[in-house]
Amino acid sequence: MSFLEIRNIRKKIGNVEILKGIDIELEKGGFLVLVGPSGCGKSTLLNAIAGLLPPSSGDIVIDGQVVTDLHPSKRDIAMVFQSYALYPNMTVEENIAFALEMRGVDKAERAKAVAQVAKTLQIEHLLTRRPSQLSGGQRQRVAMGRALVRKPRVFLFDEPLSNLDAKLRVEVRAEIKALHQNTHATIVYVTHDQIEAMTLATKIVVLKEGMVQQVGTPAEIYNRPANLFVADFMGSPAMNMLKGTVVAGGISLFGAKGVTVKVPPSVTASLPEGKQVILGLRPEAISDEGSADAAASAKADVEAEVTIVEPTGSDTFVTGKLDGTMFTGRARAETAVTPGQTFHFVFNLDKAVVFDPETGNRMG
Ligand SMILES: Nc1ncnc2c1ncn2[C@@H]1O[C@H](COP(=O)(O)OP(=O)(O)O)[C@@H](O)[C@H]1O
Ligand SMILES: [Mg+2]
Repeated sequence: MSFLEIRNIRKKIGNVEILKGIDIELEKGGFLVLVGPSGCGKSTLLNAIAGLLPPSSGDIVIDGQVVTDLHPSKRDIAMVFQSYALYPNMTVEENIAFALEMRGVDKAERAKAVAQVAKTLQIEHLLTRRPSQLSGGQRQRVAMGRALVRKPRVFLFDEPLSNLDAKLRVEVRAEIKALHQNTHATIVYVTHDQIEAMTLATKIVVLKEGMVQQVGTPAEIYNRPANLFVADFMGSPAMNMLKGTVVAGGISLFGAKGVTVKVPPSVTASLPEGKQVILGLRPEAISDEGSADAAASAKADVEAEVTIVEPTGSDTFVTGKLDGTMFTGRARAETAVTPGQTFHFVFNLDKAVVFDPETGNRMG
């Protein structure tokens, strides 16, 4: 049985349906990331789980108990917000101990619990400070400490890293990951950042306009996106989308001078000849001749005009153009090519996916 069940949750505010029937299950100890663009309903769903915003219909079930109508304080859930929401006039120690004090836990036991959490989060040296004397990353750690000390059944995080600068975000992200690995806490985490979703989750739910687009492991979402939206949203640089027509033995790409791209027979078998399709290929599946994946079972050589060259230090991203459609490949750092030249790209087709342009859904 799942530890957390979200059953057909709908939320209407005024005449607008913000959540349109969400079903999600999470096992105990799982790390669920709700990811999607701003305004897709992530916070609304998280608030429904927390009990801060009642759904219009549907149920939230935790460990077999329907909690939909239960007051937030009775759900045994702890939430960490983007804004931290620390009490400014209390020390770090008092902030962390506050929930236990409210629960009537005695002083010695509180001190012990705070010490343990402070050690886990490496904030022992900050216990006597007030929030105003802390950096953003330290405040975020205190906010997590306040949630951790309660040992709740479920942790909810709403974009906890978005107020931190880029370097700190990566550090705290790794700390949250380690925290999950060490405590086996059950976590629901909201972000609009697909890298956070990929790095943290055991299970990702991609949301768009109040509807679930796909549920899967990070690898499933990345390698087998259910539709064009998921394919485009997850991954950076984004998945390349090339137009073509199904022909005998593969896909003929528009503008690729008669090159037939051989996709796995399981994919082409289901495609009628003459049908227009979109071939999806990640940038790492497109490279230069010298660094093409030797282990690939199906490859295609494609000559195309180069429009942009972007050295990153470790690699060089080379963008080409086929029949007006741009695509980007990841080539060796020392690749010498300039815009305007024709470049020999090598496509690794083992991980190619094919979409139906009419429905946007993956066909194979
Ligand atoms: N109290 C409210 N009244 C009206 N519309 C709201 C309210 N809260 C949220 N919304 C709308 O619901 C949608 C989803 O919001 P939200 O859950 O905050 O999205 P996210 O967290 O994914 O950015 C948005 O279009 C937002 O404008
Ligand atoms: Mg939000």
